[in-house]
Amino acid sequence: MTGVGSKSVLFVCLCNICRSPIIEAVFRKLVTDENVSDNWAIDSSTVSDWNMGWPPHQRAVSYLRNHGISTAHKARHITREDFATFDYILYMNEINLRGLNRKSNQVKNCKGKIELFGSYDPQKQLIIEDPYYGNDSDFELV
Ligand SMILES: *[C@@H]1O[C@H](CO)[C@@H](O)[C@H](O)[C@H]1NC(C)=O
Ligand SMILES: *[C@@H]1O[C@H](CO)[C@@H](O)[C@H](O)[C@H]1NC(C)=O
Repeated sequence: MTGVGSKSVLFVCLCNICRSPIIEAVFRKLVTDENVSDNWAIDSSTVSDWNMGWPPHQRAVSYLRNHGISTAHKARHITREDFATFDYILYMNEINLRGLNRKSNQVKNCKGKIELFGSYDPQKQLIIEDPYYGNDSDFELV
């Protein structure tokens, strides 16, 4: 987690190498551009047990680079502490939600609002599909 913000958000997807690190990096750029990055603690994680410690997918990194954004994220699992500390835990699709529910059931003090990331999209693109097997425009869509 970076920043010591008064608000905090954790982006969550299946593997934490495509969608959630892209969105984390873009969100960090947006708040930095708005000069409010000190207000925010931002991170991303996976709900699965895969890919611990991996950097984002090469295509995610190059997509971000094309937009002048860098990332140093390493894939990590969501922890019990995450449920207790983050204000917002935003997931990409129903598969992520099932994983989150399974894990949050083991946690007593879940403070985080667990919400669909797409519910904040003004254009109501509710579900963010995994671009892992997709083409460049699927990454762009993310
Ligand atoms: C952010 O700060 C920079 C440098 O002080 C300034 O040029 C820019 O206009 C600010 N952006 C916003 C959205 O306030
Ligand atoms: C990328 O794949 C999507 C389907 O996932 C397809 O609709 C789209 O036309 C493809 N775009 C390119 C540039 O190949």
